[in-house]
Amino acid sequence: MATNIVFHPGAVSQAERTELLGQRGLTIWLTGLSASGKSTIATALEQHLLHLHKFAYRLDGDNIRFGLNKDLGFSEAARNENIRRIGEVAKLFADASAVAITAFISPYRADRELARALHAAGDHPFVEVFVDAPLEVVEERDPKGLYKRARAGEIKEFTGISAPYEAPEAPEIHIRTDQTSVEESVKIITDYLKEKQYI
Ligand SMILES: Nc1ncnc2c1ncn2[C@@H]1O[C@H](COP(=O)(O)OP(=O)(O)OP(=O)(O)O)[C@@H](O)[C@H]1O
Ligand SMILES: [Mg+2]
Repeated sequence: MATNIVFHPGAVSQAERTELLGQRGLTIWLTGLSASGKSTIATALEQHLLHLHKFAYRLDGDNIRFGLNKDLGFSEAARNENIRRIGEVAKLFADASAVAITAFISPYRADRELARALHAAGDHPFVEVFVDAPLEVVEERDPKGLYKRARAGEIKEFTGISAPYEAPEAPEIHIRTDQTSVEESVKIITDYLKEKQYI
C-alpha cells in the first residue's frame, strides 16, 4: 500500500462536468447467475442508450478477464478482487460522466455493497439490477455449456452449482428474465433512469 501519495483534485467540479457535457455519470450494476441474461441485456441497453446520444459503456465479466483482470481466477478471494477492481473502474467511468453498465455475476453481497459504497462516496448513482431466472432455466439455456461441465465436475467453484450466489436483498430493479423479454428489460431500466432524472 502506497503511503507518500496526495490526492490531486481537478479544476472542474462534478456539477460543472455534468453541465458542460450535458450528462451525469452513473453505474448500472447487473448481477445474477451465469446465463441469467446480464451480457444480453447490457449489450441491448448500451445500444439503446447510445441511440439516445448518451455516453454509455459496458464492462463485461468475461471481457475484463481477458485484460485488466487476467491474473484472477474464481476462488472467493479472486472474485472479491475482480469485483473490487470493477467497482473502482465503474466509478471512474461514472466520474467521467459516463453511464457504466457492468455485467458480472458478482455473487457476494459484500462485494456489491463495497461497489455501492464507492459510488456513494463519489456521489454517483448506483443502480443494482438483479437479473434473475431460476437455476433450472439458466441451466437449460446454458449458452456456453458451462453448467453441463460444472455438473460433470469439470469446473470447480461454479456459481449456483458448487459456489454460492447471494441474491440482492433490495436491488433498485429486479427483472425475471424467464418472464421478461430483452426489449422489455431495456425499457424497465431506461424508464427507471428517466424517472430518477439520471438521463
Ligand atoms: N429474456 C431474456 N433476457 C436475457 N437473455 C435471455 C432471455 N431469454 C433468453 N435469453 C438467453 O439467455 C442467454 C443469456 O446469456 P448471457 O450471456 O446474456 O448471460 P450472462 O448472465 O451474461 O452469463 P455469464 O455470467 O455466464 O456471462 C442468452 O443465450 C440469451 O439469448
Ligand atoms: Mg455475461
